[in-house]
This record gives sequence, structure tokens and C-alpha cells, in this order.
Amino acid sequence: MSEGGNPLLERLAAIEEEGVAALRDAADEEALETARVRYLGRSGAVADVLGRIGSLPADQRRPVGQKGNAVKRALEETHETRAAELRMRESARAAADRDLTRPGRTAWPGGSHPVTAVIDEICDIFRELGFTRVRGPEVETEWYNFTALNIPLDHPAADVHDTFYLEDGVVLRTHTSPVQARTMQTHQPPVRVVVPGVCYRRESIDASHAAVFDQIEGLAVDEGVDFVEFRSTIEHFVRRFFGAETRTRFRPDFFPFTEPSAQVEVSCTICGGSGCATCKGTGWIEIMGSGMVDPAVFEAVGYDPERYTGYAFGMGPGRMALLRHGIPDLRLLHEGDVRFLRQFAST
Ligand code: DAH
Repeated sequence: MSEGGNPLLERLAAIEEEGVAALRDAADEEALETARVRYLGRSGAVADVLGRIGSLPADQRRPVGQKGNAVKRALEETHETRAAELRMRESARAAADRDLTRPGRTAWPGGSHPVTAVIDEICDIFRELGFTRVRGPEVETEWYNFTALNIPLDHPAADVHDTFYLEDGVVLRTHTSPVQARTMQTHQPPVRVVVPGVCYRRESIDASHAAVFDQIEGLAVDEGVDFVEFRSTIEHFVRRFFGAETRTRFRPDFFPFTEPSAQVEVSCTICGGSGCATCKGTGWIEIMGSGMVDPAVFEAVGYDPERYTGYAFGMGPGRMALLRHGIPDLRLLHEGDVRFLRQFAST
């Protein structure tokens, strides 16, 4: 049957041609939607024709209805195809906007070892009090390591079981105290120094002992330096390092190079003094040996013991780092495992 005689069929053919073109060429989703409403909407072009079927003679209704439905399907298919194309184009554009390069690995610039950080912190506190940071050799003579410090060579500390001897009369220093004598030999009072450095002892290694370990020595010598200055300096240091609420106590002890000698203890930094595993229930933790410099040491280095007095102290920054960070075992600090150490790095 020819469509020529039926204006509605002609109209439908025109709608199909125009509508398919409009939908197919829609530049974006908005244009597509406008075209859809115009041709397929409830009051769009196709609905308009189908709505007029009722006014046709009965024998013409069927072909118009069929053609109308076919046009509608064709338009719907075109709409669907174009909608999918536009969606794909949109997601391709979004993907292009995304940076698909793999992020680089962040480089860790490294940081101070926790013991180094503690050494720096301690020396900085003493610097504010007028102490200069100095160093001395790790290979020492027996004279500096023992004799000048009033330690007789038959003292247990000088025994080969405690000390690494390199050759006759030469040892790996067992403490930083020999730098006391070296400093006094080359400088006249007033002397105020702190001496960080590595020391060596024959030790069985365990949670609190290492054969290679750090110490910080302190020495203050001048006319009129007394126990009060000594005590207040140490107490100031303790409050600065451990916190203002930390208490200090001095317990009598013995070292050949100080008289009187004292063990410095601080209220436990873990339990605050009530007693815990770290302070073994005592509420106190030893942090250093100390005392007023023995006149015999002044004599050994050529200072006048009648004119000068002084105090000295020696502490283990490794132990201070354990206390500071609540680390249970000294070996963790010495194994050099960066995964462990970097937790404490400030940089
Ligand atoms: N040199 C001692 C040691 O290694 C520590 C020490 C104690 C140093 C008393 C001092 C001091 O200067 O006065 O065990």
C-alpha cells in the first residue's frame, strides 16, 4: 500500500527521518534529552500522530498504528544507541582527566638515632648552663683511663676480664672519664664540659648491657664550686630532661675519682614513684654516677687541689633513651633495624 494518500503516514515518515537525525546527532546529553522529549515525549511528535488515529476512517487506522509503533521503536533504538555513546565518551573523558601514573615511593631522608637525639638533647641542656661539648679518643692509655682517675691498675675495673687491651698499656676506653684528665691538662679553670662518646667493656650482652655503648661525662671545676652548685645543676638537668615533676635523690656511692660520690636517682618516669617493673618496685631509677672531684685527680693533672674544687658525673644516654621512649631492651637500639628506629626519629 502506498503511503502517498495518507497524510498521517507521510507525517510519520518525516518524523522518523527528522527524529532519527536529531537523536543520532545530539551533541550532548542535554541535546539528546531535548530531542527525546520532542519526538518520543508524552506530547511529542509520535504521540501527537497516534492521538489522531481516532479521527481516521476505520480502515486507515491500522496501518497508521503499525507505522507509528515502528517509528517509535526506531526512535527509541536511536536514542538508546546515542545515549550509550555519550556515556562512553563521558567516562573516557573522566579517565583522561585522571592521573594514571603510579605514585613514586616517598624517600625517607633518614633521622637521628634515638641515642644520638638524646645525646644532643642532654648536651643542649648543659650548654645553657655554660658547659662546652668536647670529645676524646676511644683508644686510651691506661694512665688516662685508670691511673689519672685514681683507679689502681689492680682495681677490678682494670682487669682484662672487664677491659679490651690492645697492646701493653693501651685500652679501648671503658668510660668517658679519661676526657676529664685530658681536658684539665689542656685547659685552666674555669672548666665546664660535657663529653659524649663511645666506650667499650667486656660485657655479657643482655637487655641492659652492651659491650659497645655511649656515655656522657660531665666536669665542672673552678674556685668555690660546691656541692650545692653540683646538686642544683643536676636537679635542673633532671627537670629539663624528664619533666618538671620529676624528683631527684642522691645516694652515697663510691668511685675512686670522686669524694664524696653519689648515685643520682630520679623518681620513676614510668609509674611516677609508686613502684612498677621498670623501677623494680622502688619508685626510683638510677641515671648517673657522680661526685665531687677527688683531689688526687687534680694532682694527677697539675691543678692545685687547695685552690680548685669541682664535680663530675657520668651517665648512659642509651639508658636515658630507653626511659624516654619506654623501650624494654637496649639491644633494640643497637641492632640497627630501621623499621624499629624510625619510629623515634623526629625528622
Ligand atoms: N666513669 C663511671 C663509669 O663508667 C661513671 C662516673 C661515675 C663518672 C662518677 C663520673 C663520676 O664522672 O663522677 O661507671
